[in-house]
Amino acid sequence: MASDSRVLNSALRSRIMSAEEAAALIPSGVNVGMSGFTGAGYPKQVPAALAKRIMDSNLNGKKFKIGVWTGASTAPELDGALAMVDGVEMRLPYQSDPICRKRINAGEMEYIDIHLSHVAQSVWFGFLGKLDWAVIEVAGITEEGHLIPASSIGNNKTWLDCADKVILEVNSWQHPALEGMHDIYYGTQLPPHRKPIPLVRPDDRIGEPYLKVDPSKIVAIVETDLKDRNSAFTPPDQASKQIAGHILEFFEHEVRKGRLPRELLPLQSGVGNIANAVMNGLNEGPFDNLTAYTEVLQDGMLDMLRSGKLTSASSTALSLSPAALAELYTNIDDYRRRIVLRPQEISNHPELIRRLGVLAMNGMIEADIYGNVNSTHVMGTQIMNGIGGSGDFARNAYISIFMTPSTAKGGDISCIVPMVSHTDHTEHDVQVIVTEQGLADLRGLSPKQRAKVVIENCAHPDFKPVLKDYYRRANSYAAGRHTPHLLEEALSWHLRYLRSGKMPRDTADELSERVGGATSPLARAPQ
Ligand code: COA
Repeated sequence: MASDSRVLNSALRSRIMSAEEAAALIPSGVNVGMSGFTGAGYPKQVPAALAKRIMDSNLNGKKFKIGVWTGASTAPELDGALAMVDGVEMRLPYQSDPICRKRINAGEMEYIDIHLSHVAQSVWFGFLGKLDWAVIEVAGITEEGHLIPASSIGNNKTWLDCADKVILEVNSWQHPALEGMHDIYYGTQLPPHRKPIPLVRPDDRIGEPYLKVDPSKIVAIVETDLKDRNSAFTPPDQASKQIAGHILEFFEHEVRKGRLPRELLPLQSGVGNIANAVMNGLNEGPFDNLTAYTEVLQDGMLDMLRSGKLTSASSTALSLSPAALAELYTNIDDYRRRIVLRPQEISNHPELIRRLGVLAMNGMIEADIYGNVNSTHVMGTQIMNGIGGSGDFARNAYISIFMTPSTAKGGDISCIVPMVSHTDHTEHDVQVIVTEQGLADLRGLSPKQRAKVVIENCAHPDFKPVLKDYYRRANSYAAGRHTPHLLEEALSWHLRYLRSGKMPRDTADELSERVGGATSPLARAPQ
C-alpha cells in the first residue's frame, strides 16, 4: 500500500488491484450500478478499462454488453467510453452524453428515462431487474471500513445495498475535507412500513456522514487520482439575463402580495447556463437569507453561498467549474457547514419538496400555448437528455417555473408552439413559463386564458402573429371546446421544421404548410 493510500481499513487492503484486473471480473450481460451525478463522483478508471475489454471482445466476435445504471449524467470516461464501443444494452435513469444520445436515437441502445427520485425504490422492488454489480467512486475508506462519499451521492447507497458484488474506486483527487459534508439517511422503508422523513429545514442533517457496505461484497478496490468533469460555465448571455430578470421581478411581486416570505422559499435550480444565470441574478438581487433544496449545486449557488445571500444548500452533487471548485476547497470548513449532500432519493423526495415549499426552476425544450412542457425530446422523437429531477420538483413544488429562450437554432424554431411534440410536464404541473420576452403566470387560469398569456408574454415577435392566428382559428372551430386545437395542424410546426428547417414565421408560411402538408377540413376550419 502506498503511504498516502486512502484505504485505511487493513482487511480491505488486500483487495486493491488495477482497473484492468477489476474490470476483468465483470461479466457480459450484467446490470452495473455506477456512481456519478452531473459529471461528479463517477468512477473513472474501471469503466474505461471495461470499455477496452468490450472492444477486444467485440473484435473477437463475442458481443459484450452491460446495463448501466447511475445517479444521473456522468462524463466521457464513463458514458462516452462505454457508448463508443457499443457496450451498453440498457441505460438508465438519465444521460447527457453526445455519443450515448446518438446511439439511443439510432436504436442501438435501450434507454429508460426515469424520475430520479423513483430509481431507488424501483430497484428495491425489482421493477428494473436485478442489480448485479456496483462500481462506486469514494473519497476514502476509514479504518472501520466506512466509505467517505465523493463529490456526489446519487444512488450510491442503493447500489451498495442491492448489488451482489462491489468495486470501489478510491479517488485521492477528491478532497479529503469533503468528509462530513454528506448526510446519508438510512431510514427509508418500504410500504406499508413507511414513516415521515424527519427533515423540516433544508439544512437538517438526519443521517450519517458515511456510506455503509457489507465488506464481504467488495471484490476489488482501485486507487485513482483523476479529476471530475468540472466544465466551466459560459458567462450568461442576454437572453439568460432577461429570463433571470423576469423571475426576480416575479418573486418581488409574490413577496409584495404576501405569497412568499422575504427570504423566499428553498430554491431548486436545474442544470445548465440559464439556471446558473438565474442564480447570478438572485446573487445581485434584493433577497437575503435564502436557502436551497436542489439536486445539483452549480457555480451560481456557490457564489451565493460565498456572498452570504444563500445561508445553506442541500444537494446530491457538486457540479462546479475548476474555479468554483478551487474556491470551495479554499474555504471548505465554512462550506462543509452550509452544504449538505444527500442521496437523490432524499434530495428529490416528493414528501420533502412539498413540505419545504420548494421554488422549482427548470429548463425546457418547448412549451405549448396551454402550458404543457417538453423537457426531453427534440421534434417529438429524439431524446436530448432525460427528465432528470425536473418532474420530482415540478410536480411537488410550491411554484413550478419552466424557462427557455423563446427561439432555438438561430431563430428557426419557436420554443412556444401550438402543441408540444412530447409531454413531460402537463399543464397541471406547470405554473410559470418564462422566456427572455416575458413571464406567464398560469396559476388560476383556464386553458383559454393561459393560451392568451403564454402567446402574449412569452412568444418571440417573429412567431406571435402565427400563434395568435392558430389560436383564433382553433377557438372559432366548434366554439373552441375546453382546450381549442386544430388536431391535424397542431404539430404542423414541427413537421414544417423537419421538412424545411424552419417553423412558420408568418401566416403566409403557415398557410403554405397547411395547403402543402396538412390539408384536412379542420386545417381549413372556419376563419
Ligand atoms: N427544439 C429543438 N431543439 C431545441 C429546442 C427546441 N424547442 N430548444 C432547445 N433546443 C436545443 C438547442 O438548440 C441545443 O442544441 P445543441 O446542443 O445542438 O446546440 C440543445 O437543445 C440545448 O439547448 P440549450 O438552449 O443549450 O438549453 P439548456 O442547456 O438549458 O438545456 C434542456 C435545456 C431542456 C435540454 C435541459 O434543461 C434538460 O435536459 N432538462 C431536462 C432535465 C432537467 O430539467 N433537469 C433539471 C433537474 S436538475
